Amino acid sequence: MTTTPGPDPVRRPTLPRRLSAAEPGWATYADVVVVGSGIAGLTAALRLHAAGVGTVMVVTKDVLSAGSTQWAQGGIAAALGPGDSPAEHELDTLVAGAGVCDVDAVRALVTEGPAAVRELIALGAVFDQGVDGELSLTREGGHHRDRIAHAGGDATGAEIQRALVAAVEAAPEIEVAHHAHAVDLLLGAPDAEGRRAVAGLTLHVMGEGQRGGVGAVRCRAVVLASGGLGQVFSQTTNPAVSTGDGMALALRAGAVLRDLEFVQFHPTVMYLGPDSRGQQPLISEAVRGEGAFLVDDAGERFMQGEHELADLAPRDVVAKAITRRMHATGRPHVWLDARHLGRGFWERRFPTILATCERYGVDPATDLIPVAPACHYASGGVATDLWGRSSVPGLYATGEVACSGVHGANRLASNSLLEGLVFSRRIAEALPADLERTTLVDAAPEPAGSPSGVVDPAVRRDLQETMTGLVGVLRSESGLAQAAARLAALAAPADVDPELAAWETTNLVTVSAALAAAAGLRRETRGSHWREDHPDRDDAAWAGHVDVTLGETGAVDVLFRPAPATDLATDLADPENAPTAKEGV
Ligand code: SIN
Repeated sequence: MTTTPGPDPVRRPTLPRRLSAAEPGWATYADVVVVGSGIAGLTAALRLHAAGVGTVMVVTKDVLSAGSTQWAQGGIAAALGPGDSPAEHELDTLVAGAGVCDVDAVRALVTEGPAAVRELIALGAVFDQGVDGELSLTREGGHHRDRIAHAGGDATGAEIQRALVAAVEAAPEIEVAHHAHAVDLLLGAPDAEGRRAVAGLTLHVMGEGQRGGVGAVRCRAVVLASGGLGQVFSQTTNPAVSTGDGMALALRAGAVLRDLEFVQFHPTVMYLGPDSRGQQPLISEAVRGEGAFLVDDAGERFMQGEHELADLAPRDVVAKAITRRMHATGRPHVWLDARHLGRGFWERRFPTILATCERYGVDPATDLIPVAPACHYASGGVATDLWGRSSVPGLYATGEVACSGVHGANRLASNSLLEGLVFSRRIAEALPADLERTTLVDAAPEPAGSPSGVVDPAVRRDLQETMTGLVGVLRSESGLAQAAARLAALAAPADVDPELAAWETTNLVTVSAALAAAAGLRRETRGSHWREDHPDRDDAAWAGHVDVTLGETGAVDVLFRPAPATDLATDLADPENAPTAKEGV
């Protein structure tokens, strides 16, 4: 069964199939271009280089460490502790994913995860250890075991990023283009099935010189590892560079995006007041893992009775409970109580969060921390197979930009770094053999009449407020229809300079339109997709995925693909089904 949206009285946006940009003023070649430089991008580059791929180029919009990875606090989940097993990690992942995970992808994640983390340690990432010299493992929401490895207390992402950057810098054969924005893919002529293969990409590099401005990189494969779309919303834990560039570029190139409606709102983001915009400070779930708990204004511990794991319930459950409590009390936030952890523990275990709280005048050893949900993670993205291949020949995706199927409707805490690690290793297994079967294709002209352009960067704030108000934590049919109409207006092509601010804002409008269309189609509540007009999960109608594509005319198409609910289908008590750790891949 496939489904298209019901009667749709609103004007849907017409989006560009190509961004306006200057003609390329320079050209170069690499066998593989990796777009993005967090855990997914740098792991892919290192492993592809190790696999003998001739020339690998890493493209980063800023500097190598500017993406989301360095902000990760909690850690990286893997069944590394005594008594734990990939089977238990799999079960927790499937339950958090609320029925729409891909079981094979989850199995790859949990079975290959332990070896992948050990390899990261061998590469030089220093994780925290207990007095016994073993990895110190903690717990976060949705996990029934202590399985989160962390570094520097709450600076896990920064330590992983440091180790990976050092490894890339020690491999001078990996070329790095800094301050380089991937504008669009170059594509070959359509094959018999109408599919156009990757022929390269256009890049804009900041600065003057031989490789400044817009240029063309010819290549045989592109690996997207460009992170998420947090800047679609007014408040997010994501850095400023998270403008959905990879997802928008893939859509324009004809790729299928999947599960976009499942945007995770992290329950405990520090509330800085009604006018605070952009990246907001995260208060890691690991703080609750160490015993902190949520209270409302009256001091009531409202997570008790909501779920068997109370304050450590899966993230969507906690975010919804907080939102309901905020609506009931009319207050813009609730409180996190971590005073009993004591100053010494805060200093040792959460030095980064402690410093952030103090910067905003809160001493978490004596004060409650004001927290509210904010956009944190895109569980959906560019649809891939188990080896990172998208629907566009030669285009791969890994990490937050991808939808490998491991997160379903709600990512399990600390599975994101692991996904980037495991699936980039898988891409490096498959891609060299794929390259042997392909040749460099010539870029073909775009079809006549294919829309191109950019939007006015001045619409960004309006866009973020529209998405936050109407496509945020709580959604409804009428709100989504209003959002679609507003997005249609914001998507109007503008006569502005084609440069970074305009490209980023056009990408934000593009992924917002795709996300709103997917959220409008899914008329149920599941995981992080919460519809006030359809408050229940409905497996009979909506177990499965929403695929989004961009048609030739620039219209967003949405299609529902049914699949059996995956949190109910797997009988892990059956030894046939129980995964065990794999050292290979
Ligand atoms: C956190 O530390 O709470 C975030 C970890 C994650 O997003 O998985």
